[in-house]
Amino acid sequence: MKKIDDIPGPQGLRIFSCIKGLITDHWNEQIRMHDRYGDIVLVKYPQKRIFIYHPNDIYKILKDNSKNYRKGVAFEPLKLLLGNGLVTSEGDTWKNSRRIVGNEFNSKAIEKFSKLMINDTKKLIQSWEVLCKEKINPVELDINKEMMSLTFNIIGDSLFGSLLGEKSHIIQDSLGTATDIIIKRVMTGINTPSILPTPDNLKLSKINNSFEKIVYEIMEKDNLIEEELKGKESEQETPINVLFKLLKANKSEGKKALSIQQIRDEIMTLMLAGHETTSNLLTWTLYLLTKYPEKEKKLFEEINSFQKPVLSYEDLNKTPYLDAVIMESMRILPPVPLTSRETIEEDQLGGYLIPPKTTVFMSQMITHNDPRFFKTPDLFLPERFLNKDPYKENPGSYFPFVLGPRRCIGEEFSLVESKIILSALVKNFIFFLKEKFKPKPVPSITLQAKNGMPMYIKRRD
Ligand code: HEM
Repeated sequence: MKKIDDIPGPQGLRIFSCIKGLITDHWNEQIRMHDRYGDIVLVKYPQKRIFIYHPNDIYKILKDNSKNYRKGVAFEPLKLLLGNGLVTSEGDTWKNSRRIVGNEFNSKAIEKFSKLMINDTKKLIQSWEVLCKEKINPVELDINKEMMSLTFNIIGDSLFGSLLGEKSHIIQDSLGTATDIIIKRVMTGINTPSILPTPDNLKLSKINNSFEKIVYEIMEKDNLIEEELKGKESEQETPINVLFKLLKANKSEGKKALSIQQIRDEIMTLMLAGHETTSNLLTWTLYLLTKYPEKEKKLFEEINSFQKPVLSYEDLNKTPYLDAVIMESMRILPPVPLTSRETIEEDQLGGYLIPPKTTVFMSQMITHNDPRFFKTPDLFLPERFLNKDPYKENPGSYFPFVLGPRRCIGEEFSLVESKIILSALVKNFIFFLKEKFKPKPVPSITLQAKNGMPMYIKRRD
């Protein structure tokens, strides 16, 4: 069996241009790596890191042999912000949190959250309607910013109820700065120790302190919520607020109760994982629909058959084309473009023996756009997903939420949210991309729209 050093990859000075490319022009660099070296690539500096592109190996790492993989060093920089929350934790800490937090994201809870999603979407539609009425010409908006605020409001309301208020802007702005610092560290593989007073470390520490202050202040309002609950007997009346529910559930958990620090980490994790992902999904889907008006028309016809401005949770069972549009959008422009794991014991990947403690990257971006697994991958073709389950047809080739035990806990939440928002926007408005604007998808922790997404919107008559 061939060894890790036999894996093809950049040599000599090319290693450095490859690392630079991964930071400055990530998507194209990975395309070059895949074209030049194949389905498994070794980058030797600063540690040996492997890039895996074949579905069989991806399936093995994430699902079949997931016990042999942990999150590993590539996730260390994220801990600076997320502590030991669900995305970064391992072992018993992860198992316990996954069970407790998972209870707050079951289908019954999502149905409740959908009411928040509908309310916040209606507010956005109303504000856009006012803008459209005031102007004769189509209104110009940065759709990326609009979607970011909307999904941030939704996750903020879901996690904190109405208690976040004005502070939500502080958190939203800081999260952007923090993720930029973190992704640089993931890509270079160089993780500056947090005790060194570098400018980035100082910024991260300031962000953490202000976030912690906000969360702890809200936790202290726990008693207020108890007060608010008094006299409200039915489930329907109770506020839907994950923070409060975690604090409440904790009371019956005994030794397994989450510590206050752990709750802070979980809330921070849900906040970060729960808004930029869905926001980018919506931004890129609206972009794709402007590029493919015939698909937008088909989507509008499906949604327009419902006689209401915003669809309900139940309606979403009857929207196959909407489902397919979202799935195809996540294929062509995956909201999470890259993930990684670290081997615990030796494993075989792509015909090579991979030693323990090796970081292995997998790229949704590259594998979802590989013509061997998706014909004409450059085309936005929702029809390819109509009545088809890509998770069954070619396991490992489609993994927007990853696969296996670490699969996204917010998958249903985000699918319901994005379908409610997208259907309402397409039902009520027509979108045109600003002339000559070329969006730039930039893979960070999520697939960001560098330079935003300027569009004109027009109210449908
Ligand atoms: C389109 C939207 C979303 C996408 C594409 C997405 C994608 C992902 C992916 C790829 C992972 C796995 C990361 C890894 O292990 O490498 C993940 C994990 C996670 N996501 Fe999401 N996510 C989305 C929305 C959400 C939302 C809305 C929430 C919360 C409300 C959320 C919470 C989480 C959490 C807590 C984890 C860690 C799960 C664990 O390891 O047990 N995500 N997500």
